[in-house]
Amino acid sequence: MRLVVVSNRVTQVSKTRPAAGGLAVGVHAALAEHGGIWFGWSGDVAEEPKLKRHRQGDVTYVLTDLTSEEKAGFYSGFSNRTLWPLFHYRLDLASFSHEWYQVYRRVNQRFARELAPQLQPDDIIWIQDYHLIPMATELRRLGVTNRIGFFLHIPYPAAQIMVVLPWHRQLAADFCAYDVVGFQTPTDLQQFKDYVARELSGDVDAATTIRALGRRLQAIACPIGIDVDEMQALAAAVEARSHVERMRSALRRSALVVGVDRLDYSKGIPERLRAFETLLRDYPEHHGQVSFLQISAPSREEVPEYVLLRNEVEQLAGRITGQYGEPDWLPLRYINRTHPRRALAGYFRYARVGFVTPLRDGLNLVAQEYVAAQIEDNPGVLVLSRFAGASAALEAAGALIVNPYDVHDTAGALNRALVMSADERRDRHRGVLATIRHNDITAWRKRFLSYLDSGPIDGGG
Ligand code: G6P
Repeated sequence: MRLVVVSNRVTQVSKTRPAAGGLAVGVHAALAEHGGIWFGWSGDVAEEPKLKRHRQGDVTYVLTDLTSEEKAGFYSGFSNRTLWPLFHYRLDLASFSHEWYQVYRRVNQRFARELAPQLQPDDIIWIQDYHLIPMATELRRLGVTNRIGFFLHIPYPAAQIMVVLPWHRQLAADFCAYDVVGFQTPTDLQQFKDYVARELSGDVDAATTIRALGRRLQAIACPIGIDVDEMQALAAAVEARSHVERMRSALRRSALVVGVDRLDYSKGIPERLRAFETLLRDYPEHHGQVSFLQISAPSREEVPEYVLLRNEVEQLAGRITGQYGEPDWLPLRYINRTHPRRALAGYFRYARVGFVTPLRDGLNLVAQEYVAAQIEDNPGVLVLSRFAGASAALEAAGALIVNPYDVHDTAGALNRALVMSADERRDRHRGVLATIRHNDITAWRKRFLSYLDSGPIDGGG
């Protein structure tokens, strides 16, 4: 059996260069085990898209370009200004355009046409994320009968949100064209089942089987994870590196609080900054004793909502530094550039608090990377939003869970983390690390592929 993975972004990982993140590591490990194809967007814009192929060991990368019209309608438009805000519960930020929707479908059709001739009869096909929901429909139209699975990396919203989308029925049919659909959390799975029961009058049993629109498929909750050993090794290796040394000497005795995200409105960065401001106002004993490093990687800068967010965050960061900073103490260090994972691993390792407070997040891998990077006998504390998919497993395990909309609650948790005894920190860390290890990247791919590889179940019933 060969594995064929399709995702909008394709990350090529070499042995000497650490992978970019969870999805890349997971997909790579799966491809390394089975051999196969990784198909997706090259990241380039070209008016006459070409297929670029190259082979590395048993894996063939097949990359295709987007035209500028496709990039605008498929990627920046329907994927990132319709589905992304809607699936993250931001109806206020979602735009609905028939034209974008048409381009979204056309790009999925083209990807399917380009992929189909490369397939062999016993390949299993694994499609990733919201850009590519219609891929199974389009492949089936071309006569592809292979097993096809889909994993949604972002939340699946409540049915009442989903039905706002003018094309929700077409997307529902697209979901049902798969053999296996995977979600990050039991809540996402339940919301998908509620939608199928209410809107499609489908049969949804307590186990994994769904019957709807004349198809039978399996729907599972299967959270993605990280490569814990890889992050631990990366963090331990940076101990003596100069960037970490420089940061530690700049901090002097201040405890470090760290936040790392793409600069995205789903991540709750303004709310996080306000919560930190509330800590400085309500717990003045931390003045001179704490410093918050917020690293926000630029993202989707062609989308207007992201430009507005950047302005808002810059204003808030300036206000906090202006109001509380001292010539010899910076309460906040705000950085708006991408950092290599190696550097982040070093900051995570020395941070007393990992401050991860999205307003809505499929899972959140930064929370897991922060935990894996800790020094085991003197670990920091994870302060985590209840709206991150990761909280489903990490709340009982020992993370401090907050409501990011409530700045007082969040500031209180931050204070609690900062004053927590070493014994309590170690206890909590042990619990959280064990859970992350149990649900790591290998568990994710093995679990999903065990469903996808378990033989055809589509009897049309
Ligand atoms: C989220 C999505 C991914 C996406 C990533 C970066 O994690 O689930 O599919 O690749 O954001 O966003 P970008 O628009 O740069 O691909």
